[in-house]
Amino acid sequence: MKVVVCNQLGPIEGLVVEERPEPEAAPGQLRIEVEAAGVNFVDILFVGGQYQIRPEPPFVPGSEVAGRVTALGAGVEGFGVGDRVVAMTGMGGFAEVACARADNALLLPDSLPSDRAAGVLQSYATALYALRWRAEISAEDTVLILGAAGGVGLAAIDVARASGARVIAAASSEEKRAACLAAGAEVAIDYTREDLKKRCRELSDGGVDIVFDPVGGPYSEPALRALRWGGRFLVIGFAAGEIARVPLNLALLNRRSILGVDWGAFTGRDREGHRRLLAEIATALGDQTLSPVEPQGYPLRRAVDALRDLSERRVIGKAVLLPKVD
Ligand SMILES: NC(=O)c1ccc[n+]([C@@H]2O[C@H](COP(=O)([O-])OP(=O)(O)OC[C@H]3O[C@@H](n4cnc5c(N)ncnc54)[C@H](OP(=O)(O)O)[C@@H]3O)[C@@H](O)[C@H]2O)c1
Repeated sequence: MKVVVCNQLGPIEGLVVEERPEPEAAPGQLRIEVEAAGVNFVDILFVGGQYQIRPEPPFVPGSEVAGRVTALGAGVEGFGVGDRVVAMTGMGGFAEVACARADNALLLPDSLPSDRAAGVLQSYATALYALRWRAEISAEDTVLILGAAGGVGLAAIDVARASGARVIAAASSEEKRAACLAAGAEVAIDYTREDLKKRCRELSDGGVDIVFDPVGGPYSEPALRALRWGGRFLVIGFAAGEIARVPLNLALLNRRSILGVDWGAFTGRDREGHRRLLAEIATALGDQTLSPVEPQGYPLRRAVDALRDLSERRVIGKAVLLPKVD
């Protein structure tokens, strides 16, 4: 089978396609014929050796896949050969065949094609965990979402919309802002040009209730200042490459809360909570209260292009690799 391999940590251009034997499903695992593999910002960090966890090369990146189950490891219950699933693989997803723990997998509803499903787990789990579990979003809230046309950002729009909240989306281009509006944002602003604090205060009668920040850099502080009394600031990530330093009096003055969102660590620390979160996603995908958007697809051999487009802000929503497309 073909896989995308990282033979040494560094620029994504070092990734190569190689032939490898198909993996066997270990006890508790599913073996999956991959129809689509989600491409995530974290893959760039893994390959560059810039993530908290530094995998030892050679390794196959790719942490989520959608496809058909072809074998069950010993002890697996609740899945059968031929089932369509989406699963967290940890590593190894950029491949024609991958293995995943059965308790990190969900059965897919027929209504959701594999390409749209492949990018769902990380982005929707992060958005749900942040907005519902950490910030306890309600229908009365106005939410400012930064990087709103990114993978996690568009999922956050969908979750906020499904929760009845009002969304102000911030994104860098006209095309991205149009995608945010199509996904359910009420207003979309250009945070690279407009005064974020001033615009948000105007648009929300004095301040937003929640900030969802996967971008960091120069945007975090004005976004924190845009929060009204009692507002909640969700620290998701630092796609801009820089971790903002903010004066803590901004939290004191308006009784604001700064909430860390550690979804990756949470999946390991709280297995029961993780299963509940996955079940929430499965229900919402099944009854279509959440509806992931069409991704940008690339054949497996163009993994570097997909990762480059992501790192250079050219992807709207999710990018996925399609091993069955040449
Ligand atoms: N805390 C958690 O549990 C958790 C879970 C998942 C992901 N994350 C983190 O969340 C962040 C976003 O992930 P994602 O999958 O949504 O990524 P993404 O699809 O690449 O979206 C990130 C967005 O950030 C904006 N951005 C601003 N400056 C950028 C720059 N210099 N380079 C790239 N993007 C830039 C872009 O929007 P504009 O062009 O509109 O500015 C882009 O759409 C990453 O740092 C990821 O590691 C955290």
